[in-house]
Amino acid sequence: MTNKVTPWEVKGDVNYEKLVKEFGLLPIKDLPNVFRENVLFRRKIVFAHRDIQKIMDTAKKKKKFVMMTGLMPTGKFHIGHMILAQQFVFYQKLGAKIYIAVADIEAYHARGQSLGESRKIAMEEYLPAYIALGLKPKNVEFYFQSDRSKDSVKANSYYRLQNLLAKHATFNEFKAVYGEIGPGKMIAALLQAVDMLHPQLSEFEGKYPVLVPVGIDQDPHIRLARDIANRYKLNDFTQLSSTYHLFLPGLRGGKMSASEPNTFIAVTDSPEVVKKKINKYAFSGGQPTLEEHRKKGGNPDVDVSFQYLKMFFEPDDKKLNDIEKKYKSGEMTTGELKSFTIEKINSFLKVYQKKKKLAEKEIDKFIK
Ligand code: TRP
Repeated sequence: MTNKVTPWEVKGDVNYEKLVKEFGLLPIKDLPNVFRENVLFRRKIVFAHRDIQKIMDTAKKKKKFVMMTGLMPTGKFHIGHMILAQQFVFYQKLGAKIYIAVADIEAYHARGQSLGESRKIAMEEYLPAYIALGLKPKNVEFYFQSDRSKDSVKANSYYRLQNLLAKHATFNEFKAVYGEIGPGKMIAALLQAVDMLHPQLSEFEGKYPVLVPVGIDQDPHIRLARDIANRYKLNDFTQLSSTYHLFLPGLRGGKMSASEPNTFIAVTDSPEVVKKKINKYAFSGGQPTLEEHRKKGGNPDVDVSFQYLKMFFEPDDKKLNDIEKKYKSGEMTTGELKSFTIEKINSFLKVYQKKKKLAEKEIDKFIK
């Protein structure tokens, strides 16, 4: 499989270390306690950043900040999407104002998906999932790039910013950041810069720090937005902060992808389907025979079931360490690890699926 990491496409294995160096990101180190309580931070699933100190300081002083991010609504909501959703819920609990953009304009340019299809997927798959995972309607701006607001003062200022920002980027810069690029993707990149910067306009929140949590493939968009923000003089933007999380591995390794059915576990999957997917497809770090496994032990770092436990389904550090040790020593077999993981995922999804039914009644509260 060829490897590829661009803001529009991620394929194959991702070499995070190389990208961190290439993009000039910093590893996340000393975390305040509230962050350490969260598995995603404690286990370095969220592993790198730009300018995060500003957000940590603001959060410590209990002052206002904005968390802004977006999603391209293609295909089914799967467990890989929970990494970002759990971050919104965490930041909302910390008191941040939450901005979530449905990138329907981007999906139109990058995937050829109609606005209607994007809206349908966002409303049926993504928003109910966010609610079921704990997102509350208070202090949230959930919007579509193609339909920013019914309030024309707000909508005008969002689209005005996009038109004005365009002056502060050059064609060569687009080529350097994105390689091949045409007008549609340029518009999408500029609109994403607007998504990230517009919360600071006076028509929205005003000058507050903005944190953008994303997958590492999105950093080119962040670099572009930061460069533009430095050059733009009509508004004094506080520079953007960002964090980068790992992708949840697909069942066979690589990135979990909604467009390749046997790589993902959807949040709507039944217990039988989960069982079949893990048993049949989940890449194992175990040895080919039981005898060899007992002798040499398994490798949890490449074992997909273990990674799922680490990223979500076994939040207890002691239990996770115990599993890791037993698997490495060969005391625990692949079959045992898989059945434990299946059970954990299914008990999580059982609760989740109940919450999702209730969530459907809440949807209207998010659409203003
Ligand atoms: N490009 C993002 C994706 O592919 C979606 C997106 C749109 C976004 N606007 C954003 C992400 C602003 C972060 C911030 O998923």
